[in-house]
Amino acid sequence: MEMSRIWKAVSLAIVVMMFTFIAAGCADGSSNEVNVGIVLPTKDEPRWVQDEQRFKDAIAKTDYTSEILFSQGSSAKEKENVETLISKGIDVLIITPQDGDAAASAVEAAKKEGITVISYDRLITNTDAVDYYVTFDSLAVGAAQAQYLVDNSQGSDVPLYLYAGAASDNNAFLFFEGAWKVLQPKIADGTFKIANSSEAESLKDKAELSRDELSKIIGQVTTNWDANESKNKAQTHLTAVSDDLKGDVAILAPNDGTARSIADVFATDSAVTSFLVTGQDAEKASVQYIIDNKQSMTVFKDVRTLVEDAMGMAIQVLDGKTPETTGSYDNGNTEVKAKQTDVIVVDKENVKSELIESEYYEAGDFTGLE
Ligand code: BGC
Repeated sequence: MEMSRIWKAVSLAIVVMMFTFIAAGCADGSSNEVNVGIVLPTKDEPRWVQDEQRFKDAIAKTDYTSEILFSQGSSAKEKENVETLISKGIDVLIITPQDGDAAASAVEAAKKEGITVISYDRLITNTDAVDYYVTFDSLAVGAAQAQYLVDNSQGSDVPLYLYAGAASDNNAFLFFEGAWKVLQPKIADGTFKIANSSEAESLKDKAELSRDELSKIIGQVTTNWDANESKNKAQTHLTAVSDDLKGDVAILAPNDGTARSIADVFATDSAVTSFLVTGQDAEKASVQYIIDNKQSMTVFKDVRTLVEDAMGMAIQVLDGKTPETTGSYDNGNTEVKAKQTDVIVVDKENVKSELIESEYYEAGDFTGLE
């Protein structure tokens, strides 16, 4: 008797709970409807997990709904993600392509459904199906990395090791182009000598490189944005060179993930007496490397701003307004209207003021911070 009364009460509670749940979900008549679809390239790099978190923070402040999907390094998965989001009724797609060219067909499918496409951080290339591009100043990223090597190297004939991002990422070209403009005159005047790229060596007298020429160098020194590939390449390069290309060296590493891998390899070579190594993204692990003198610098790209810009644009579109832009980028097919954000160079000197005092990270995330 007692038991059956308890059961009745429990079942009633469950029914009430289920009803409340369903009613809440359908309150606005759009329980499954997603307004803004977001597709990011991979969860395997802290950079994009950072973006995910910042998007979640930004979305929580709006009345619109969104869903974030990861492509895990696969253009096929990316296409599937876009299709899933289209089927959920999105009006705006914010997407960082895994591969700039390959993503064209995915965004063309979205465009056909009248969806506004925003290329996020990486430009989708060779299609007219991109409406807007929000980006950091990627030429400035490369230039800042190179300038750091120039400013902090001493003497002449400093061995210079060049590394680049993935050739499928338009940014890899912009970063390298920005770096080359600063490094090339310093290679020409004998400050640096190229240690690991015959392609760069054969182009060393050219101040401006064409896309094809950049492709040749990038093809040779690409890391594919991959930690293992970076490590293997660095090992191969150090095994290949004689000791006169060791000593005090300078390394252009395209981002933090690759910088840490490359730095770890250079640190174990006893003929390398010191090395400068660049990075970008201000990933927590690299901030710790900078504090520990294992990485020289990073280029801080405040993801909060990029997310704000992308979400701001999305909301304007949803509200029927036209987003503001500051310039445009040629994607090989069309001039894509763009909003661009500046970057900040961070090294041991300003790590605290730029990253802790700005509340990007908490001091407790790091050890040995002075
Ligand atoms: C981004 C970098 C990132 C790299 C690897 C680039 O397109 O701009 O911030 O480190 O991809 O994911």
